[in-house]
Amino acid sequence: MPAFRLAHLSDLHLAAEVAPARLSDLPTKRTLSRLAWRRKRQLHDPAVLAALVDDVKAYDPDHVALSGDLTNFSTPEEFAYARGWLGDLGGPESVTVSLGNHDALIARGHAARLASLTPWLGDAGEPVFPQVRRRGPMALVNLCSALATPPLMATGRLGEAQIERLDQILAELAPSGLCRVVMLHHPVGAGVVSWRKSLTDAPALRAVLARRGADLVLHGHAHEAVFGAVAGPGEPIPCLCVPSASAGAPDGGRWHAVEIDPDAPRRGLRVTARAYDATSRRFVELGRYRLPAIATPIA
Ligand SMILES: [Fe+2]
Ligand SMILES: [Fe+2]
Repeated sequence: MPAFRLAHLSDLHLAAEVAPARLSDLPTKRTLSRLAWRRKRQLHDPAVLAALVDDVKAYDPDHVALSGDLTNFSTPEEFAYARGWLGDLGGPESVTVSLGNHDALIARGHAARLASLTPWLGDAGEPVFPQVRRRGPMALVNLCSALATPPLMATGRLGEAQIERLDQILAELAPSGLCRVVMLHHPVGAGVVSWRKSLTDAPALRAVLARRGADLVLHGHAHEAVFGAVAGPGEPIPCLCVPSASAGAPDGGRWHAVEIDPDAPRRGLRVTARAYDATSRRFVELGRYRLPAIATPIA
């Protein structure tokens, strides 16, 4: 039976130019974020994103997992643009989105913006977390760590209710034999990002993962490739951070193709890193790895 193909993308930071500056944003974090963006805008390249879409479509994934920061300033215009972009990538039943800190930049209007992405958050039909999507040999558990924070902070938090529900969900999934993929925006492992960018209740999340187990954690936010692990009840649980999908020179965008063996969903995960090549202006294979034997090249 062919492998189940999961594409993992993150940190799109789509088209900031669609977000108009408004007087009402002056006293909010959006203004500071705009000033920071003027320094960073060259870091994200629309041409890279266009090439990424072509490459992901050529791979023809069974599912796409997108771990947040679709937008920059969390404006309604950016969310509308993001919905169009997601629609071009595939139907919402085959694309799952977890929000990032940039998608929750300010609290005002957040609930409505979040609700506008409901079809991409899971199958519940409402913007609640966690949500579980069962697709082939995979159960994708979608968490939301995004919340509005004070200026200069980019922390995330899941909250007690979400972590308790995750505990139940992972316990229910344990006997299913499905590959349990947990997705959120912020890193789970300690020290992956600075404290001002960290997940404040990561220790509680790690305790649940250590007790209940999972087969893979996908996240973004760090804007770099991180092949890490956290403790599980048996083997360590691999944690993969994919760099920004839209990164321009010199780094270039990346995405990961994760292949799950339907005959052994909890073993033999294969990851192929795909990276933007500025010369050919296409994505090319960077390397392949087998999990949970982290960072052991197999090709
Ligand atoms: Fe980001
Ligand atoms: Fe982020």
